[in-house]
Amino acid sequence: MYNSEIIGCGMYVPERVVTNHDLSKIMDTTHDWIVQRSGIEERRWVSPETSTSDLALIACEQAIKNAGIDKSEIDCLLFATISPDHDFPGNACFLQPKLGLTDIPAIDVRQQCSGFIYGMSIADAFIKSGQYKTILLVGAEVHSKGMDISTKGRDVAVLFGDGAGAVVIRRTEVKDHAKSSHIMSTHLFSEGSNAKALWGAAPGSGLGTVDRINNLHLEEGLQYPSMNGKKVFANAVRRMCECLMLALETNKVKLEDIDLFLFHQANLRINQMLAQELKIPEEKIFNTIMKYGNTTAATIPIGMTEAVKAGKLKKGTLVASAAFGSGFTWASSVYRW
Ligand code: UT7
Repeated sequence: MYNSEIIGCGMYVPERVVTNHDLSKIMDTTHDWIVQRSGIEERRWVSPETSTSDLALIACEQAIKNAGIDKSEIDCLLFATISPDHDFPGNACFLQPKLGLTDIPAIDVRQQCSGFIYGMSIADAFIKSGQYKTILLVGAEVHSKGMDISTKGRDVAVLFGDGAGAVVIRRTEVKDHAKSSHIMSTHLFSEGSNAKALWGAAPGSGLGTVDRINNLHLEEGLQYPSMNGKKVFANAVRRMCECLMLALETNKVKLEDIDLFLFHQANLRINQMLAQELKIPEEKIFNTIMKYGNTTAATIPIGMTEAVKAGKLKKGTLVASAAFGSGFTWASSVYRW
């Protein structure tokens, strides 16, 4: 059977830095509240003319260069996002021509904060089946254009930021499962009965109205995300612990064998609670949320790229990732870089 390996990564965040102090000028919030509750100090927001696929393009170009491949080798494009350029078609279709590619499948993954690990799992399965050989997977979000940035939406608006991260995943030959670079496992989960604990209601056919979106929906603010923060927080800690432990058991590796933990970045407190619960030394967890906030599907590949730059992620590093988000969805992966 074939195996897959991450052979390159890249990231891009918009230049505009939005600090907590900047937010406190447009809504009733404070730097201290945001830092104490979430660990976030600043995030990036795009300029009006920039779209999600624009961010993705730069991250993808970097990942292709970093992988040392020619883009013509890419035979499948996967795009994880919940903040696409347009309602349809999927964002991979908008990105494909910008990359100068054509004909290859362009597939969107809509699993929110778990989207990148879901994408890794899909790429791994495609490669294992022999269907594709070199897959470009990107996670990118423009949240700043879709949030209520008034005091009414402050619980959500202070948490999310814009950004993109991408990886090239390629077929590889694994000589030694304990040592060779490859994706060792992915585990995916969901619990749709909690879909409305963190969701965007409109536009939608489930609103009981003739139109998927109308002025009444807009007046009610249904186009903005809404969240039961405490419920999401509690479930994130529990589910990320569970799926991480399952990933370790599956691969017969101990927690102390993992060199680097690249978790989703929803709230620094969530990752600190995970570390406390599982007794992971904090220096083994690579966090980026302080600078970028929650960039949803882009978070883990942004973390990968920054960890490479920081010298914490090198050939041979054993990595564990876990994510939790809207859906509820959650997922884990263990991979050797
Ligand atoms: O990937 C998944 C994505 N999301 C998450 O993982 C988020 C998970 N949840 C969380 O991170 C936390 O629940 C939050 C950071 C969102 C909120 O923290 P919390 O400790 O659960 O606060 P809370 O919702 O209980 O709100 C406490 C107070 C409330 O005021 P009252 O009712 O006590 O007077 C809120 O209205 O804080 C108020 N509040 C704010 N105050 C200043 C809510 N948002 C803000 C804000 N600034 N931005």
